[in-house]
Amino acid sequence: MELSKVLITLLLIVTTVIGSISGCVSAASEESESKEFVVTLDHSNFTDFVAKHKFVVVEFYAPWCGHCKKLAPEYEKAASILSTIDPSVVLAKVDANEEQNKVLSSEFEIRGFPTLKILRYGGSVVQEYKGPRDADGIVSYLKKQSGPASFEIKSPEDASSVVDADKILVVGVFPEFSGEKFENFTTLAERLRADYDFGHTLDAKLLPRGDSSASGPLVRLFKPFDELFADFQEFDVDALVKFVEETSTPTVTLFNKDPKHHPFVIKFFNSPNAKAMLFLNFASEQFDAFKSKYHEVAALYKGKDLSFLMGDIEASQGAFQYFGLKEEQVPLIIIQTNDGGKYLKPNVEPDQVASWVKDFKDGNVQPYKKSEPIPEANNEPVKVVVADTFQDLVFNSGKNVLLEFYAPWCGHCKKLAPILDEVALSFENDADVLIAKIDATANDIPQDTFEVKGYPTLYFRSATGNLLLYDGDRTKQDMIDFIQKNRATVAKQESRKEEL
Ligand SMILES: *[C@@H]1O[C@H](CO)[C@@H](O)[C@H](O)[C@H]1NC(C)=O
Ligand SMILES: *[C@@H]1O[C@H](CO)[C@@H](O)[C@H](O)[C@H]1NC(C)=O
Repeated sequence: MELSKVLITLLLIVTTVIGSISGCVSAASEESESKEFVVTLDHSNFTDFVAKHKFVVVEFYAPWCGHCKKLAPEYEKAASILSTIDPSVVLAKVDANEEQNKVLSSEFEIRGFPTLKILRYGGSVVQEYKGPRDADGIVSYLKKQSGPASFEIKSPEDASSVVDADKILVVGVFPEFSGEKFENFTTLAERLRADYDFGHTLDAKLLPRGDSSASGPLVRLFKPFDELFADFQEFDVDALVKFVEETSTPTVTLFNKDPKHHPFVIKFFNSPNAKAMLFLNFASEQFDAFKSKYHEVAALYKGKDLSFLMGDIEASQGAFQYFGLKEEQVPLIIIQTNDGGKYLKPNVEPDQVASWVKDFKDGNVQPYKKSEPIPEANNEPVKVVVADTFQDLVFNSGKNVLLEFYAPWCGHCKKLAPILDEVALSFENDADVLIAKIDATANDIPQDTFEVKGYPTLYFRSATGNLLLYDGDRTKQDMIDFIQKNRATVAKQESRKEEL
């Protein structure tokens, strides 16, 4: 899941679709005077208050956050308007910066400010607020959220107002609005209302697609891709949820700068499946050929733990950086499995897609490793290690290796560089000691052996294979002492090629 989040962020960074919840960084002045309609809550009264209400919106804010200050008057205005409707919608706020309220921010997993949550039924259902940030927008979004989860479609006008060309809509068709099937549909709508729109109708003729003579009970899902609608006639709630989630996922998820695709891109990365990504130039002549071939393959593997995305290189710089891919490898397919394995087919042609994916499935494709090129000269005191030389220089060199994992942008790494140079110089004539560094952002590192959480991270591997994390002071003398204390005598062997 963590990995997925990184990828989603990278892919969408260009277009800032999830950017409405931007964090605040600068500390500034005090919070403004107390308000009337927005209810202030803290750790002492939060649970009691929420338990008494069917629908509460809570803003988690920090006093120094600029976006929170901008939201405050809009939020207050919305609270005053919403207090007059029936049943009333309560808007509340919690100062998440306050030490004693931190239990609440961790319970609700608050990572940025402001974050708004909708708490239903005394807090038993928690939902992300995904609406606008201006007073009128807040009011209309919350009216809809606090109203019935499903909208009754009574006329063709109703239908055309809810069937959106870019969105998923789930409609229940019933002979009457009662009975267990209808209730289960309502439960479904309640459960998934944050993510999908729901409608119900007595008359399938009002709907734009599908069999118009159907009298139900049936659930028809409208979607802006593939076969454009799908019907379902089971009413077990879990089966309905599964139906909605599966059929609302495109066979091939498209990714470019068009924000209408982005909800599906997020879904793609949140799926538990392995992920196949084809990156190419959408403006190229080959686009149509790829699209149809790729679609065929994706349809073949539907329901087989592999999801498919087609991305335009124009929007995919983040992913390229993340995977260490190069423009000259395009068109390419990269598959990422859930255990972090990566498989690459560079310069792929439309006709090769199916056989390569089959080879992958059959276990006949070698994993791909991100690596910088092997340096031609490596004669600075601190030796450069890349992913492709990791085995030879670190695991199999038979030396005592002090290895720095660094990032090019990291200030502490820059500070360490001259010190590390001096350490390396002091071992210059010692053939049994190697001081080395690897750019951990440009090379895959063996994650089962090294845990690199920040930069720089220093590991020492003795000639006999003892692995130690260096956590001493980053001074020349301390590092030299550490190496001398932990080094092992190098065995005089001709070849040491044991795999670790
Ligand atoms: C909760 O407690 C805080 C601090 O004592 C107080 O300012 C606030 O008005 C209380 N809220 C409610 C709804 O009682
Ligand atoms: C309604 O949903 C419940 C719970 O999922 C299920 O046990 C029941 O069989 C469903 N009713 C119908 C008519 O499908």
